[in-house]
Amino acid sequence: MKILVTGGAGYIGSHTLVELIEKGYETVVIDNFYNSSAKSLERVKEITGKDVKLYEGDIRDKALLGRIFTENKIDWVIHFAGLKAVGESCAKPILYYDNNIGGTLALVEVMAEHGCKKIVFSSSATVYGDPEVLPLTEECRTGGTTNPYGTSKLYQEKILSDMYAADKEWTVVLLRYFNPVGAHESGLIGEDPQGIPNNLTPYISKVAIGELKEVGVFGNDYPTHDGTGVRDYIHVVDLAKGHVAAIEKIAKSGVYVYNLGTGIGYSVLDVIHAFEKACGHKLAYSIKPRRPGDIAACYADAGKAKRELGWEAKLGIDEMCSSLWRWQTMNPRGYKD
Ligand code: NAD
Ligand code: UFG
Repeated sequence: MKILVTGGAGYIGSHTLVELIEKGYETVVIDNFYNSSAKSLERVKEITGKDVKLYEGDIRDKALLGRIFTENKIDWVIHFAGLKAVGESCAKPILYYDNNIGGTLALVEVMAEHGCKKIVFSSSATVYGDPEVLPLTEECRTGGTTNPYGTSKLYQEKILSDMYAADKEWTVVLLRYFNPVGAHESGLIGEDPQGIPNNLTPYISKVAIGELKEVGVFGNDYPTHDGTGVRDYIHVVDLAKGHVAAIEKIAKSGVYVYNLGTGIGYSVLDVIHAFEKACGHKLAYSIKPRRPGDIAACYADAGKAKRELGWEAKLGIDEMCSSLWRWQTMNPRGYKD
């Protein structure tokens, strides 16, 4: 079985390639390296011993997509390619809508032309907006997104669901990721943010290695167990395995929605303390004002993925932190080393 992985050079894509290749799948990648480098694919080869077939280019380039589908008999598409920085999406909404929604439209159009109608889409817990109840089940209301990135995910879910409504041959799997963190156990692939990280765990690891001075904790007056924001952090390797489970278990056309999380909520301070254990020293932090647009708490009910896909997260917060620390110490400048 051959799988096209869009955005395969990125953080989650590269980890998913490893899991797919190790299970014997053939993979083809399209990536324009907007937020990644070909180095991650070399590292995937180092881990798996297998070459990754790469097409460098943009998913909005329908001629290139057409060539990929002509030259390869693709069975499934796992669609990671997209822009993901919440703050940047507020400053550059057109870039985000064009890249994310425009990219998905081009992709599904070319897929349909070539008779490939099976897609796994990287969605996000952000589609739930500010949760009314916790834990979040797939039946919870979606909407109320507060930034163009989140809104683009919501629209892409809708577009893909409408594809199935119009043509019952489509298989659409919407995977709503909670907070992916950590790195492959080899320390060879991991998250490589450009500049100062926006997300919590990459920021913590840069403080731990001495590149940044202290962690700013965005608010300690939320209605949570210690006042700091609570999230459902999921190890990226568990997340990657969730994609493999989806393509292996889903045999009938339809629209399938799954939360991929652990079901456990950790606060910002919990994560800082877990990371201290992983890196073996104390970390400086200070309390800052709340970050605009943040919610107090968000965590999954991950039961549906377990029941229907036989998938559940296996790795805990300690493995998340220790694998990230290994990646950080082995690659202090990310893929630039
Ligand atoms: P990433 O930026 O590391 O990977 C995305 C990849 O897509 C990059 O390699 C980038 O160069 C490529 N890309 C972007 N636009 C492209 C285009 N038009 N054509 C070709 N390639 C393009 O991000 P990631 O963390 O691996 O996220 C993968 C997917 O998962 C994204 O769709 C993201 O929105 C979604 N997601 C991520 C998170 C998270 O916290 N990391 C959470 C929920 C959902
Ligand atoms: N936080 C800090 N200090 C920091 C960074 C973050 O205190 O320097 C806090 C935030 O306030 C929040 C928690 O750490 O309480 C997690 O923040 P992240 O930025 O790591 O992650 P978010 O939950 O805000 O968002 C992430 C992705 C989104 C995605 C969402 C749900 O960035 O793209 O998870 O999947 F939509």
